[in-house]
Amino acid sequence: MADFYFSNTVRPRRSLLSVPAINLRALAKLKALDCDGVIFDLEDSVAPDVKDEARGNLLTFFKETPLAGRETIIRINPTSTNVGQRDLKAALECAPSAILLPKVEQPSHIQDVAELLAEADAPETVKIWAMIETPKGVLNAAAIAESSHTQAARLGAFVVGLNDLRKETRVPAEARRTYLVPWLMQIVLAARAYGLDVIDSVSNDFRDLDAFAAECEQGRAMGFDGKMLIHPAQIDAANRAFAPADEALEEAREIIAAFAKPESVGLNVINSNGRMIERLHVSQAERLVAMAEIIDQRKAEKE
Ligand code: COA
Ligand code: MG
Repeated sequence: MADFYFSNTVRPRRSLLSVPAINLRALAKLKALDCDGVIFDLEDSVAPDVKDEARGNLLTFFKETPLAGRETIIRINPTSTNVGQRDLKAALECAPSAILLPKVEQPSHIQDVAELLAEADAPETVKIWAMIETPKGVLNAAAIAESSHTQAARLGAFVVGLNDLRKETRVPAEARRTYLVPWLMQIVLAARAYGLDVIDSVSNDFRDLDAFAAECEQGRAMGFDGKMLIHPAQIDAANRAFAPADEALEEAREIIAAFAKPESVGLNVINSNGRMIERLHVSQAERLVAMAEIIDQRKAEKE
C-alpha cells in the first residue's frame, strides 16, 4: 500500500475558511486573511436562485485574485443533480486545489466524479475531498477511504460536517460533543488507515471564541489536521491549536538529533533522558518539524 498519498508533501490545513460564493464582501476579504485554505461554497450557503451568480463570482475571483500559498477548495452540489453538474463545470474552470463533495456516502460518489475529472482532462493537481456528514457516510468511511484514495480516484481528505450529522441522527449540539466523539474518531481512523488528511467540522457560534478554542483543542487531541471555519474571527484559534506545539517541536528535534548520532546507528530503540524513543518516532518527528518550518516560512513571507 505504498500509495502516493502516503508520500504526499506536508501541508498545513489548520484553518479552512468557508465562504459562501455569493458573498462578494466576504470574498474581497480573503486575500488579507491568514487561513491555510479557503472553501468556496456553492452548496448549502448559496440559495437556489443565485447559484449562477455564485459560480460567476468564483470564475472572476479565481481569475483576478491569486491566493498565493493557500489551498483553494470549491464545495459543489452533488453531481447527480443538474446544479451539481454546472458547479463542477465552473469549478474545473477555476482549477482549484480540490473539489469538495457534500454528503459522500459510498465509494461510487467519489469514483463517479473522478471519472468526470478524467474525461475533462483535469490536471492531477485537482484533488477530490469528501464531506462525511451523514450516518451512511460515517458507517462507510473506511470503505470510501479504501477504494478512493488512489491516484486515479484523487481522494485527498475528509471534512466532517456535524450540522448535517446532528440533524440526521438527532444528537443535540452540546459543548463537549460527548456522543459524537465515537463517530468522529471512526472518521479519523478511516482517514488515517488510507493516508488521508481529516478536517474537523465547523462550529456555529462564532462569537464565543473561548468555546471555539476549546473545541479546536479537542479536535487536535482527537487527531484532526485542522478545522473548517465559518468566520474570520475563528482563524487565529485554529492556527494556534493545530500548529505543532513548542514542546512537541522541541521533543521532535531531540528525537531526530538522537537517532542521527553515530552511536545510534543500528539501534531501533534508545534511552533519551529516561524515556524510550523508537526509530519509528523519527518520521513523525520529521513531519512535525517540516510542518513548523512551512508555517514559519509563511509567516515570514507575510511580514
Ligand atoms: N469569510 C470572509 N469574510 C467573512 C466571513 C467569511 N466566512 N464571514 C464574515 N466575513 C466578513 C463579513 O463580510 C464582515 O465584513 P463586512 O462588514 O465588510 O461585510 C466581517 O467579516 C464581519 O462579519 P460579521 O458581521 O461578524 O458576520 P456576518 O453577519 O457578516 O456573517 C455569517 C455571519 C455566519 C453569515 C458569515 O460569517 C458566513 O456566511 N459564514 C460562512 C458560512 C458558510 O460558509 N456556511 C457553509 C459551511 S457550514
Ligand atoms: Mg452539509
